[in-house]
Amino acid sequence: MPTTPSPPESRSTVRTLLRLWPYVRPVRARLFTAAFVAIVASCIGLVIPLVLKWMVDGPIADRDPAGVWLGALYLLLLGLAEALLFGFRRWLVARPLSHVEAEMRAGLYRHLQRLPVAFHDRWPSGQLLSRATTDLMLLRMFLAFPLTFLLVNGVTILVGVIIMLVQDWTLGLVILVPAVPVMVTCVVFEKRYSGAARLAQDQVGDLTTVVEEGVLGIRIIKGFGRHRSQARAFRELAGKLRGTELRKARLLATILGVIVTLPELAIGAALVLGAVRVADGSLSAGTLVAFLSTALALRWPVDSIGFLLAMSQEAATATERYFEVMDAEPESSGAAGSRAAGAMGVPSLERSREWGRVGAAAPRSAERRVQPPGESRNPALTGCLPQRGHPQPKRHDCPREGGDGGDGLIFHGVTFRYPDAPADTAPVLDRIDLRIHPGESLALVGATGSGKTTLTALVPRLHEVTEGRITLNGTDITEMSREELRSRVAVAFEEPTLFSASVGENVLMGGGDGEEDLERALAVAQADFAHALPQGTDTQVGEQGLSLSGGQRQRLALARAVVGRPDFLVLDDPLSALDVHTEAAVEAALRRVLADTTALIVAHRPSTVLLADRVALLSGGRITAVGTHHELLRDNPEYAHLMSGAPAGNQEDDER
Ligand SMILES: Nc1ncnc2c1ncn2[C@@H]1O[C@H](COP(=O)(O)OP(=O)(O)OP(=O)(O)O)[C@@H](O)[C@H]1O
Ligand SMILES: [Mg+2]
Repeated sequence: MPTTPSPPESRSTVRTLLRLWPYVRPVRARLFTAAFVAIVASCIGLVIPLVLKWMVDGPIADRDPAGVWLGALYLLLLGLAEALLFGFRRWLVARPLSHVEAEMRAGLYRHLQRLPVAFHDRWPSGQLLSRATTDLMLLRMFLAFPLTFLLVNGVTILVGVIIMLVQDWTLGLVILVPAVPVMVTCVVFEKRYSGAARLAQDQVGDLTTVVEEGVLGIRIIKGFGRHRSQARAFRELAGKLRGTELRKARLLATILGVIVTLPELAIGAALVLGAVRVADGSLSAGTLVAFLSTALALRWPVDSIGFLLAMSQEAATATERYFEVMDAEPESSGAAGSRAAGAMGVPSLERSREWGRVGAAAPRSAERRVQPPGESRNPALTGCLPQRGHPQPKRHDCPREGGDGGDGLIFHGVTFRYPDAPADTAPVLDRIDLRIHPGESLALVGATGSGKTTLTALVPRLHEVTEGRITLNGTDITEMSREELRSRVAVAFEEPTLFSASVGENVLMGGGDGEEDLERALAVAQADFAHALPQGTDTQVGEQGLSLSGGQRQRLALARAVVGRPDFLVLDDPLSALDVHTEAAVEAALRRVLADTTALIVAHRPSTVLLADRVALLSGGRITAVGTHHELLRDNPEYAHLMSGAPAGNQEDDER
């Protein structure tokens, strides 16, 4: 269940907000102009009391109606000018700020695409979603309003106080008395509100995660009748968020109480004192009117400081959350520095706590020992002979000595541990030496959880090996650009994820040049059902392809893997969701593709294993046996058990 996050490293609000400058820079001219216009508008508002003073002490005292009308006209014109200028300010900022928001959102999305899978494993999706939506909206609002108005109101208050002091300095000093307690309250408020704002925004992220899981998992929730417990979990989390929001409201109410009450009391005191002095004759009525009107004109700039500070604080938190993602190091495009996992920030859900904070985890680059080309390799590899282009080699579990490893896909002493796994746990993959010759298909068999998917993910570098190397036709995969690597290696995952796009677009994501390749790939994957869909291959598949059956999705995923005619094909249990007839048809088609592709196929069923030339058995993180299906079935009890379901070690009993 999601919980609240640990408080972030503290940075001053201003320093945090300054990080927005690169995004704001392109629109700085408009922002500064808007601030200037707002200051002018605000100062026009301060001229109004001076006109009032002139009217009271002049035409009103002289009982001159024409002068009063003239004064009223001035007031009207000043009011109009103020309103127009404020409107102009809004027009100036609206467009550029939505541009800033859009740019930041696009930047975040782009960055998310480039972050390693390990980052996405770690971060709850709701936390990312809330950063891309709520936080960016808060930032736009901050740039549009508090940023300008903290400045505008500051200048207005300063000018207003000067005007009041010039009108009458004793009354001016009375008005200034609350300044110190108000400032102290603001400083205390800022600190407390900052903590509450961070908590609330993280809780919004957690809530988003729960909503997202609830929507995506609606079939499971309904199927198991879990809607009540799901609703309860949601209510609890929403209750926590409500608690935090109430705390924010209480803090805001306290500061507003101080900011509104103290100046009001000071205005009251100035009114009494001023009235006494007007009665004494030591102050003109006009001056008192002007003084009080100025004080009242400053009420909004002073009162608004509370919520402007609150909004700024929320914006600082949003900035912090935004840059936690933006600061995470993306996958490098090629070899240099590609192995550094980088700082991956701090997600909020409990998962993140169980796995430890990123900062606490040793960087992967430090854990891993990279074997440079030419360095002597595992002695177990000695004596393995390459058989170029031979589809059915006998002993291929080791790479060729010398050079950089030989042709085909080769794992050289590959060890892998998930970056978040505690250091004292055994690695998922332990010194794997495996060779798949050009044109050969190798099936990878192992018990569930033995690390098959993990091994396949290392080939397209979705995860980086902890130790050892993987070579493609002699080239270390870390020495190729990811783009090149991923264009040469195609993958079909266990989960056949599709996107909200047409069937054709989904398949052609795997490469290929158009209609012809699409048709060929659909034929190979026995996905001809696509033509029978309402708009053929132009039919849109729903979110995650859920409008298609499991087997249909799997066949499209397979078509996507083969459409680009990759040199290397990695298939993670590609036929698991197919009925026996479709499976046989797909196998027949795949056999043709596999004939000229180097393939690694994770298999659970004998029928899939039979597609491959050889089989490797993964057990306890190691490759414990390599051979043909029949050899292993005969010689290896664990393999026989996995393939037949017979108890391991009872092979002889079974045969008798
Ligand atoms: N992202 C991850 N972070 C940490 N551990 C993981 C992660 N993914 C998998 N594991 C762990 O690694 C081990 C191997 O998982 P993997 O998915 O590779 O197994 P598998 O052989 O493909 O299993 P199956 O046959 O069920 O698909 C498991 O113990 C799993 O808990
Ligand atoms: Mg798996």
